[in-house]
Amino acid sequence: MENQFIKKNQYQIGNAVVTQHCPSNIALIKYWGKYENQIPANPSISYTLNHCKTLTEIEFIAGEDFSVQTYLSGKLELKFSEKIEKYFKNIENYLPWILKGKYIIRTENTFPHSSGIASSASGFGAIAKGLMELDVLFSNQQMDEEALQKASFLGRLGSGSACRSLYPGLVVWGKTEEVAGSSDFYAVPYPNDEVHAIFKDFNDWVLLIHEGEKSVSSTVGHGLMKTNPYAEQRFQQAHVNFKKLKEILRIGDLPAFIKLVEHEALTLHAMMMMSDPAFILMKTGTLEVINKIWEFRKNTQLPLFFTLDAGANVHLLFPNGEGTASIKNFIEQELMQYTQSKGVVKDEMIF
Ligand code: PMV
Repeated sequence: MENQFIKKNQYQIGNAVVTQHCPSNIALIKYWGKYENQIPANPSISYTLNHCKTLTEIEFIAGEDFSVQTYLSGKLELKFSEKIEKYFKNIENYLPWILKGKYIIRTENTFPHSSGIASSASGFGAIAKGLMELDVLFSNQQMDEEALQKASFLGRLGSGSACRSLYPGLVVWGKTEEVAGSSDFYAVPYPNDEVHAIFKDFNDWVLLIHEGEKSVSSTVGHGLMKTNPYAEQRFQQAHVNFKKLKEILRIGDLPAFIKLVEHEALTLHAMMMMSDPAFILMKTGTLEVINKIWEFRKNTQLPLFFTLDAGANVHLLFPNGEGTASIKNFIEQELMQYTQSKGVVKDEMIF
């Protein structure tokens, strides 16, 4: 399967500068646990965001000794540069020219660096897109569907969830019977005509409960699923949830969507608590917010709900429609107090 991405193109390399941007994404059915070479243990589906993006310029100086210098918001980042160097060496099979020059990479995020919003998905997404732009340039090809799919494939090898950021809307990664063409190797867009209108006009406001480094990285977290006694059950559950979600998306069953999405978020964190050693990424504020949301929903019947990624921040999800003004007002008045420094990133889905 990977062989489809090894092309015997004729390459003519030269100095080049390319710029690409890529949004972040938030998973509804979570990827947590993987095998060798970033193969996911279960299928996942995410919403691609609109405003949280990484913008990346790659300058390639052909013929110089291979090295990578990475600047994040103008500041030279040695650790990040090493990580990218390792990544480039790892994907040489798919881009045979990649080690034949020097790189200066300048990257910045539209969201605050210390926000705890994962930048690896948008970051590797933007790099993979930039690399594919160089690849089509050097081989005199076009940036077509196939090149985009290869960008998703390459993004995955940098950070699993990055592969989903290459497409807008709802995006699936991981083989599932429920979605034709789905693959463990790259992401595919979820068929647009099988999504009810209610799910196409959604907000994601990220409450920044804890800014800064996480105590346990997602790489370590994924690794701990290998010895988690509940892992197999969880992987099966993700498949079952895909089946349920497909019908929910088709018929526009918002209450069922809310139940499933919140359950997925809590399952992700339950897996962390049942790892050995156990770890907890939620903070007191995370739990306070969850309880407040549940209380609000009970009292108003308005569709405000949450998901979490591998961190303490809470993604507040709500569709645009009746009641949106009350929901926004509730967030400002009641939930902002749990953020570390009045931090909220107001995003939405793009379709
Ligand atoms: O792509 P990674 O290795 O950073 O893992 C992402 C894992 C979650 O964000 C928790 C879930 C997901 O599917 O994005």
